[in-house]
Amino acid sequence: MKITVNGDIRDVDVEADMPLLWVLRDELGLKGTKYGCGIAQCGACTVHMDGLAVRSCQVTAASADGAEIVTIEGLGTPAAMHAVQEAWVEEQVAQCGYCQSGQIMQAAAMLDLNPEPSDSDIDAVMSGNLCRCGTYPRIRAAIKSAATKLQEA
Ligand code: FES
Ligand code: FES
Repeated sequence: MKITVNGDIRDVDVEADMPLLWVLRDELGLKGTKYGCGIAQCGACTVHMDGLAVRSCQVTAASADGAEIVTIEGLGTPAAMHAVQEAWVEEQVAQCGYCQSGQIMQAAAMLDLNPEPSDSDIDAVMSGNLCRCGTYPRIRAAIKSAATKLQEA
């Protein structure tokens, strides 16, 4: 299978039903995408597939064949962060950090579709991304800040 990951075409030789999460972590060494529940309930494994947020624990390798995947490693770099990543740093969102790559990927995908989300828009989209550290107020503040940054860019 050929999967474009963070702009590079990668050949992967795996079982068709292997979850994309394991392709990314175990085959390609991209450990920023996390395993939380494995049943689409936590959002820790969120990546972008053809521009949309997906739960990579629920996407098979076969269905990612030919797709464009972006992970947290490809969203931005330390020298050129995505606006969402910048806002996350400025608002000091992370606590333990485990859920945060999924939160950031979900937030970035939401802002692509809805550049000016209301509080209820944010709550509706982000409610599927769980944070046991309770960083939700800072997540919401960072998304608002990122939205402003993106509009001013
Ligand atoms: S690990 Fe995929 S949603 Fe929880
Ligand atoms: S920062 Fe710890 S689970 Fe979200």
